[in-house]
Amino acid sequence: MDLLAFIFSLSLGIIAHAVPSTLESTRRAATQNTSLTPLVIWHGLGDSHMSPGMLEFMSLVRNIHPGLFIHSIYVEEDLDNDQRAGWFGNVDEQLTGVAEQLADVPELQGGFDGIGFSQGGQFLRAYVERHNNPPVHSLITFGAQHMGVADLPACKPLDVMCQLARNAASTGVYTTWAQKNIIPAQYYRDTSQLPTYLSSNHFLTSINNEVPDSRNHTYAQNFASLSNLVLVLFSQDKTVVPKESAWFGSYAPADESQVSSTPALVPMKRQPLYSEDWIGLKQLDQAGRVKLVSCDGEHMQIARNCWEPIVKQYLAKSKKDDGGSTRSSLLVQSS
Ligand SMILES: *[C@@H]1O[C@H](CO)[C@@H](O)[C@H](O)[C@H]1NC(C)=O
Repeated sequence: MDLLAFIFSLSLGIIAHAVPSTLESTRRAATQNTSLTPLVIWHGLGDSHMSPGMLEFMSLVRNIHPGLFIHSIYVEEDLDNDQRAGWFGNVDEQLTGVAEQLADVPELQGGFDGIGFSQGGQFLRAYVERHNNPPVHSLITFGAQHMGVADLPACKPLDVMCQLARNAASTGVYTTWAQKNIIPAQYYRDTSQLPTYLSSNHFLTSINNEVPDSRNHTYAQNFASLSNLVLVLFSQDKTVVPKESAWFGSYAPADESQVSSTPALVPMKRQPLYSEDWIGLKQLDQAGRVKLVSCDGEHMQIARNCWEPIVKQYLAKSKKDDGGSTRSSLLVQSS
């Protein structure tokens, strides 16, 4: 119950985003332009790989880049099962399956650009770190939870039921069962119980190289090889707590007694993950390849003036180009 409420709160924005569309119903464009770097998309929680919203987005991208090959990642081909797999399962296992899937798509073999929506953002990053074969050139994440989620949306004062639900979620989320079976639990990073998180969580602690004795240097090498990392934050996001997780921000570690007051925010550059460069993020940033973008709106309310400049600037480069980082524009500012 508590976990379901937690999951539901994360999925709300994405369901609202999946509007019906009559624009397109096929996976591939009629004529493909094989000289363009293809695109791979990973949908968000509550969505599926061929939902109306996803089909519409792919169609809009192809209007800008005619003939672009786009692959939409699925954990299950059946749409209902794919939607369920966004909630239930083991992310590590799902990722292994996705890596096999991508390695089997002939059009992707020279590498591709990636777009991850919400939790699909940190999952695609995990693909880069752990697999990256075929390799990702530019990675764009919209409203991702790169430093996890720390809490449920805030309770109103004196809302006892809300407080109880929050407390229940924060004790149940690190059980072995939840960590193996509830997807959002695998990136739940409770800054009031970091030691428990570090010892119980197998996914986010891993891809963030947070556990001192098990840091994997390959993760950092792969991640630092990206041409561009575009991190989109939604300025009104009340679903992802804190919303700055989209930019590798998190709450400062706090003990249980401080839970009622809002903890301080640690921005990307003050994270040990960044300053000690556990995953290659600092290296990427110092090479000018990390772009922090803010879009108006609630979680996953992606307005045209949000996605369009990004899609134009970073996607579908001619494969003959050198693949280096692209210039910045007024809308997309370097960190
Ligand atoms: C580090 O990650 C790479 C890539 O996923 C993997 O092949 C390797 O086994 C990992 N190393 C350790 C020590 O886990």
